[in-house]
Parts: sequence; structure tokens; C-alpha cells
Amino acid sequence: MPVFKMKKILVATQKPFAAVAVDGIRDVVENAGCQLVMLEKYTDKAELLDAVADVDAVIIRSDKIDEEVLSAAKNLKIVVRAGAGYDNVDLDAATAHGVCVMNTPGQNANAVAELAFGMMVYAYRNMYNGTSGMELKGKKLGIHAYGNVGRNVGRIAKGFGMDIYIYDCYTPQEIIDADCVKRVSSAEELYAMCDVVSVHIPATPETKKSIGKVLAGAMPKPALLVNTARKEVINEPELLEVMACRPDFKYVTDVAPDALDEFAKFEGRFFATPKKMGAQTAEANVNAGIAAAKQIVDFFENGNERFRVNK
Ligand code: 3PG
Repeated sequence: MPVFKMKKILVATQKPFAAVAVDGIRDVVENAGCQLVMLEKYTDKAELLDAVADVDAVIIRSDKIDEEVLSAAKNLKIVVRAGAGYDNVDLDAATAHGVCVMNTPGQNANAVAELAFGMMVYAYRNMYNGTSGMELKGKKLGIHAYGNVGRNVGRIAKGFGMDIYIYDCYTPQEIIDADCVKRVSSAEELYAMCDVVSVHIPATPETKKSIGKVLAGAMPKPALLVNTARKEVINEPELLEVMACRPDFKYVTDVAPDALDEFAKFEGRFFATPKKMGAQTAEANVNAGIAAAKQIVDFFENGNERFRVNK
């Protein structure tokens, strides 16, 4: 009779999931006859290197999986990023190590979209300083990339009575028609016409530092730029220049910029959450965490690679 070795699945999260999500992950893992190992709130990479040494699978969030981690993980077959963006995983190195990398698209999208609106209202109401602010109703909202988060932003914007424009060359026309949003033909056009722009592009070699003087600087007065995507997509020196020349320009972000001190000088016009928290809700943690666990089980049991993102 063949002897099956119990698969070990590690959850490695510097920013932990809500307890209810961990309970759900544990259920999925243990019901599949696998063992769950937890590494939460680690501060040192050495802890991660140690924890991956004998595991078959890893569930991560924004945790970095690079060549060193992959080399230390001798039994590793699959990494699932419980979330959308996988710019924290070295995909080429994973492929070279024969490791499958997946994400869980859409699972935390509503949480990020709701935060984008929380930040919009906060900025439009002058950061609750008691002075007279503005309303979102009737304003032109530009959604820069209409993926899972962008689409949720569009859905919520309708409730606010905003006039919705999107720029995304990958979204099929049926979706644009079904959602009754207006598509523009370039990012330049989007920024030049919208009062508020909400950024939802991934960080790729093409998008990194792509939002600077040309795009942000072209926004009509008063301008509000909301970034719940990645700090890397902003050209920080150029955005600082725009903010210095334009007292009407506000920038709110869920991802603290590298030049945080420089941005913080624009008091009343800049806000960054202390920690990236767009996906930090119990619901999003449950959705993304459990989806990740199920994808791993399905991968081991049936070879399902549906959400694979590396070659
Ligand atoms: C994502 O890419 O899914 C979001 O940025 C959430 O990231 P987090 O899991 O680190 O909160």
C-alpha cells in the first residue's frame, strides 16, 4: 500500500488575516487531510526562510517571495498570493524552481473599492477639519483600469451619483456596455477630463512611474488623485512638483510613498494610511484566504492550475 506524506501548507503573513479567515483556512486545509502551519507578524526574513524549509505550499499576502526564499523551500510546489497583485513574487525564479504561483483575483476587490471611497470623501471634506468641503455627486470620476477593483469602484460611484469614465484597453466592450460606463481612449484623456481619478493599475515594468506630470498635471482644478493600487506606479518627484505648483491638488493614498516626508509637507492636501489596508477587512481576508486554501487543495488533488500567473 502506498504511503502518502501529509502535505504541509504554510500561511506566511507579515500583516495577518482576521482570525475568522484563519479558522476558515484551517478547515479547508485539515478537511483535505493536510497540515496547516502559521507564521504571522514575522519581522525577520530569516523566520520566513526557516518556516518554508519543509512545506509543500505557501499562502502569502504582500510577503516577498524571492530567489532566496524559493531556494530555502526544497519541497515547495505552489505559492498562492491571497489577493490580486503578485509583484511581490519573483515569477521567473518560481518557474525556474518548478513552483506554481497563483493569485485569487477579485476576492478582496470590494474592500479596496470601499476604501477608495472612504478616502475620496475624506479628501473632499477637507480631512474633516470642519471647513466647507465638496460633494462627489455630479463630479467626473476617472477609473484608471477597470479590473475587479475598478469595476467595484464604478458600481459604488453610481450610488454617489458620479459621472463615470474609465480607461482600460483590456476590458471587453460587453462589460463596458453592461455597466453603462464611458470608455475614453487614453490615460491622458481620462486625467484631463476628470475631477477625481482613482488608480487601479498593477505595478508592471510598463506602468511603473507612469503617473506624473503629464497625467496628474493635466487634471482640471480642483483635482483629487486617489491611489489604492501601488506606490510604484507614481512618479513621485513629478507628483511632488505638481502639488507644489497646484494648491488645488490633493493626493490620498493607501500606499505610503517613498518620499513620505516630502508629501507630508502638503498638509491638508495629502494623506497616506499608516499601513496598506485596502484589503484589510474580515470579509476580504475570508474571501481571499479561503480561496487560496481551496486553490492549493485543488492543485494537489486535481492538478488544477486555473489561477496560475507564472509560466
Ligand atoms: C492586493 O494586491 O490584493 C492588495 O494590494 C492587498 O494586499 P494585502 O494582502 O497586502 O493587503
